[in-house]
Amino acid sequence: MEVQAYAKLNLTLDVLGKREDGYHDLCMVMQSITLHDTLTLEQTPGAGLRVGTNLRFLPTGEKNLAAAAALRFWEALGREPEDLDIRIAKRIPVCAGMAGGSSDAAAVLRALNDQAGNPFTIQELAQVGAKVGSDVPYCVLGGTALAEGRGEVLTPLPPLPKCWVVACKPDFPISTPELFAQVDSVKLRRRPDTAGVLAALKAGDLEGVARRMYNVFEDVMSPRQYARVAEIKQTLIQKGALGANMSGSGPTAFGLFDSRERAEEARAALALTYRDTFLCQSV
Ligand code: C5P
Repeated sequence: MEVQAYAKLNLTLDVLGKREDGYHDLCMVMQSITLHDTLTLEQTPGAGLRVGTNLRFLPTGEKNLAAAAALRFWEALGREPEDLDIRIAKRIPVCAGMAGGSSDAAAVLRALNDQAGNPFTIQELAQVGAKVGSDVPYCVLGGTALAEGRGEVLTPLPPLPKCWVVACKPDFPISTPELFAQVDSVKLRRRPDTAGVLAALKAGDLEGVARRMYNVFEDVMSPRQYARVAEIKQTLIQKGALGANMSGSGPTAFGLFDSRERAEEARAALALTYRDTFLCQSV
């Protein structure tokens, strides 16, 4: 069985406050893009649960979110773990803010649910995913959606008008838990206009969405790291993006374009410096 796992971008990301369980309440407008990993699931009697990828440094056992998702799925069904070989062709960069691992987990949940004759609704499956990671519920749903709470309270939104997307990841790692820890100690100077983005989506106004995109983590990361993200955003805008933003806990920045030509120019310009540069479309 072969399935695609699409990357996600944050059109907005707002942190509302810290919760008693240590997580943060969030408010995020999420969007899937055509950049994807491809997963192949195969039953392998007697071989246990295994994950293999084309990236040697990724975990192959239960620490891999794809394996964790399979275990949570069988647990929710009240079944014993099965023998399953999960092969992942990774294209979504790792630790990029594009939910690559969460998307792989969501793809496993959808595939196993399909194979079992859909015992869970998509909403139920998303709640199984919440036990694997905060971004997994959204990845189960996909498309354009509002994610609130820890990330598991989902509201489908009118789709982002079809557009070209250039996503570019600078070559430095960001620790999501560290960024979340820092957000508690800084006063956020700017917040995204989430209501404005929702209204623009309702009106089918791509430019209105693009102009209002914002991610509060841009204000929380170190000035040195932010300078590199800002440089990418500036190139995207100079090349004709309608708006540019950082995704998730970064460091990927992306721009939305209404012209394929301009998007291709932006991709070519950024690819001179950044290996992880992608031209794709909204899903
Ligand atoms: O749920 P997940 O394992 O993906 O979260 C990774 C880390 O990000 C958590 O350990 C926590 O530090 C932080 N986080 C948070 N609030 C959220 C989601 C994630 O503080 N809503």
